[in-house]
Amino acid sequence: MSLVVYFTFILFSIVSACDECVLSKAAIYTKPTSLSSGTCGYGSLALKLNGGHVAAGVPSLYKDGAGCGACYQIRCKDSDMCSKRGIKVVLTDINKNNKTDFLLSSRALKAMALPGKDIHALKIGALDVEYKRVPCDYKGRNLAIRIEESSKNPDYLVIQILFQGGQTEIVAVDVAKVGSSNWTFMTRKYGAIWETKKAPSNGPLQFKFVVTSGFEGKNIWAKNVVPANWKPGVIYDTKVQINDIALQGCTPCADTQWNSPCFLGL
Ligand SMILES: *[C@@H]1O[C@H](CO)[C@@H](O)[C@H](O)[C@H]1NC(C)=O
Ligand SMILES: *[C@@H]1O[C@H](CO)[C@@H](O)[C@H](O)[C@H]1NC(C)=O
Repeated sequence: MSLVVYFTFILFSIVSACDECVLSKAAIYTKPTSLSSGTCGYGSLALKLNGGHVAAGVPSLYKDGAGCGACYQIRCKDSDMCSKRGIKVVLTDINKNNKTDFLLSSRALKAMALPGKDIHALKIGALDVEYKRVPCDYKGRNLAIRIEESSKNPDYLVIQILFQGGQTEIVAVDVAKVGSSNWTFMTRKYGAIWETKKAPSNGPLQFKFVVTSGFEGKNIWAKNVVPANWKPGVIYDTKVQINDIALQGCTPCADTQWNSPCFLGL
């Protein structure tokens, strides 16, 4: 029995580690609807992420919210219309339309075109593309948490995780009073939003983020993040960043234009 569990775990790990180098065929479907109220919970901030180059991904990319904030490089296969380098997008929403892997924001779609070409003008619903996951790089900006409006100091703490770098996923979040080893786990409410009804009271708070790093989990420890009088609506700097790249379990991409990290602007 334990052997079966063990092998299942290894298989799962290898599959997720292949994210970086798998080139896939997909299609893009554009809609005028804005991605600003995406299911990841970034709200209006979503459109400022990465210059508005954001996308909704199918459930296998959204991963019940663990895929929120992941970066993808996408290029369309029509070389008369699209640049070879393609674009880099941040996942901010789920795409429930099973005809295409991504829904792109119109800004992202526009950026994918060669100068002077207008993909919109083609009036095509879907484009053939290839894509791969790439690391996110926020150019020196740290991982941050935003206290959500539904929070009630001291017990009910709801946080949104922002500016997540690297190429790994946050799979668990723990919180404790600074200096205490009594950690309380938080649960993913949805998307990039985590909550606990038992937040430690009377003290500044520290956080531990568990990320999938290569083949195993890794703790990222933010030692002093929010003050005792934390307030809803405020963004707090964690003073740490995630820059892990998942280990590759498959062949790297041959085309070097496909191997640059995703530099993100705000
Ligand atoms: C795609 O979605 C439609 C409508 O929800 C459904 O009827 C169809 O079976 C789905 N196709 C696949 C391949 O999942
Ligand atoms: C640990 O923290 C939890 C949640 O903040 C609290 O309910 C519990 O009483 C604490 N336990 C100890 C031993 O301090």
